[in-house]
Amino acid sequence: MKAPLSFFIFFCLLGTSSAMYKQWIPNTNFENTSNWDKGRVPCARDLILFDSNEAVSVFVQATHSLTDMYIPLNGEFIMAPGAGFAAFDDSYDPGCETASKVTFNTAENYQWYDPTLWHGATSLENLDQGKYIFSVDEERVPCQYDDVIFPPETSFRVNIASSEQMIQLRSIAIMGQKFTSDSHLTEYMQSHSAKLQFHGPGTFRLSNTRCPDKSGCECGNTADHDRICAALLQNSGNQCPVAACKDPLKPVGHCCEICGATVSLEYFTGFDIEVYQNRVLHTFLSLPKNAGIQMAISKVNGSLAFLGTVQRNSVSSIQIVLIDNRTGSQIGTHAEQLAKDIMGDIAEHGESFGIAAGHLQAATGSNWNAQRTNGHATATIAGTVVGVVLLLLLLGIVLLLYRKGILRSHPSLHLNFFWKRKYDLDPSEQSNDTGFDNPMFDTESTPTASAGMCSVEETLEKIGSRNSELYYINPLYDETELSA
Ligand SMILES: *[C@@H]1O[C@H](CO)[C@@H](O)[C@H](O)[C@H]1NC(C)=O
Repeated sequence: MKAPLSFFIFFCLLGTSSAMYKQWIPNTNFENTSNWDKGRVPCARDLILFDSNEAVSVFVQATHSLTDMYIPLNGEFIMAPGAGFAAFDDSYDPGCETASKVTFNTAENYQWYDPTLWHGATSLENLDQGKYIFSVDEERVPCQYDDVIFPPETSFRVNIASSEQMIQLRSIAIMGQKFTSDSHLTEYMQSHSAKLQFHGPGTFRLSNTRCPDKSGCECGNTADHDRICAALLQNSGNQCPVAACKDPLKPVGHCCEICGATVSLEYFTGFDIEVYQNRVLHTFLSLPKNAGIQMAISKVNGSLAFLGTVQRNSVSSIQIVLIDNRTGSQIGTHAEQLAKDIMGDIAEHGESFGIAAGHLQAATGSNWNAQRTNGHATATIAGTVVGVVLLLLLLGIVLLLYRKGILRSHPSLHLNFFWKRKYDLDPSEQSNDTGFDNPMFDTESTPTASAGMCSVEETLEKIGSRNSELYYINPLYDETELSA
C-alpha cells in the first residue's frame, strides 16, 4: 500500500507539466524582525527611524503603539484591515522598558537577478509546502515562461535593472493581484505603489503562454548571466567556493563549478522534455536508493563539444545536472552512478524518446582518491623491488651458508615466499579497473542496443581511469559505423 502512495506523491511533487512558479523571498513588512537593525520589531518606547531617502512600501499587519517615528519622504505604509499606529499611552509594555533607536534596514539592494532571492516550484501547492526545485543559477531567477509571485500580504522593493531592459514572463502576481496582460500591468506600473516596489531600468512583458515547444524552451536569462553570478557571489567577494573534487564541472547557466555529473542530450524531432523528465524521475530518481540526489533538467544553448557528429540546425541541447549529498572522497560518486544508469537507459531506449546522443561528464571526490591510490601503488611497487633485491641478497647468503653447511632448511621455502609477495601485488594493480554494474544491461537486447552497449562499456572503462573525460554514446551512428 505504501509504495503506490509514495509513487503518487512523488509524481505530483515533481510535476508533469512545464509550469514553473518563482516566488520572491524578501519582504519589507513592518513585522518582519530581519527588517530592523536591532533584529526585533520596534516597541512602544522605541524611536523608529526610516532613512529619509528610502523609497519603500511597508506592509503593516497589526496595530503598533509608538512614541516617535521618522518616516521616509517618499514611501508608503500599506495597512492590513485592523492594522495601524497608535500614540503610546504609557501603559505597561513587557520587554520594552528601555527606549532605543530602531532603524529600518534598507531594501534598496535587492535585485531581481539575484538567484538567492527566489524559490522555484512546479505548482503553487509545492511552493506553499516548501517543495522547491533544484536548478542552475540562471534558472533560479524567473525564466521567460514562468509565473512570478510576490506573495499576498507582503510589501517588497526590487531592482529590475536588466541587460535586455525587458523581462519576459508568463504572468506576475503582486500582493494577490495576478497580471497576465501587458496593458493591465502597464497601468499598474504607473501607480505609486508600483514605483516603490519596482525600480531600476527594466520593464516586464507578459506572454500569458507556456513554452510552445515540446522539446522545451531555454530559460532566456543568458544575457544576464554575469549580473546573476555577481548577485549570487556578492557576499563572498565574487569568489566561488572551491569544489572538493578534481576538474569540477561547469554546467551551462551555472555560476560556479560543481562536483557531480552532467548528461547532455542531443535530441531530434519528437523529443518531449516532459515525457523524458518523467521517465528519468520514475525510472531512477524515485528509487529509494537515489534519495539524496538532486536533478536539474532543462534546454540550454550551446557549449557542447559533440565530437564527430552531424551539425544540427539548432545548437540547443538538453542538460541534466546531478548532484548528491555525499562528502569527502565520496562527493559526486552517487550522482555519477545515476548518470551512468541514465546513459545505459539512453543506449537502450534513447531513440524511442527522440534522443540521438548523450554525453556524460563526472567529477567526484573519488577521482582525487584514484590519483592518490595510483601514487600508493607506485610506492608499493618500488618497495617491492627493494624487497625483492633484499630477498635475493638474503637467498644468496642463505645459499652460501647452506653450501657451507651452516644452515639446513629448504631453499624452496623462500621461493614460495617470493611468489606470494608477487601475487599479493596483483589485486592492487587491478583495483583501478573498476567494473560497472548496470541492471539495464542484463536484459535481452536487440542487435542495435547491444552495438550501443559495447561502446558504452568501452567508454566507461576510459572514464573509470581518467577523471571527467567526455563520454559519448550514439547508438544510431555506431550502428552505421559497424555496418560500413
Ligand atoms: C523577512 O525578511 C527577510 C529579508 O527580507 C526574508 O528573507 C524573510 O523571509 C522574511 N521573513 C518573513 C517571516 O517574512
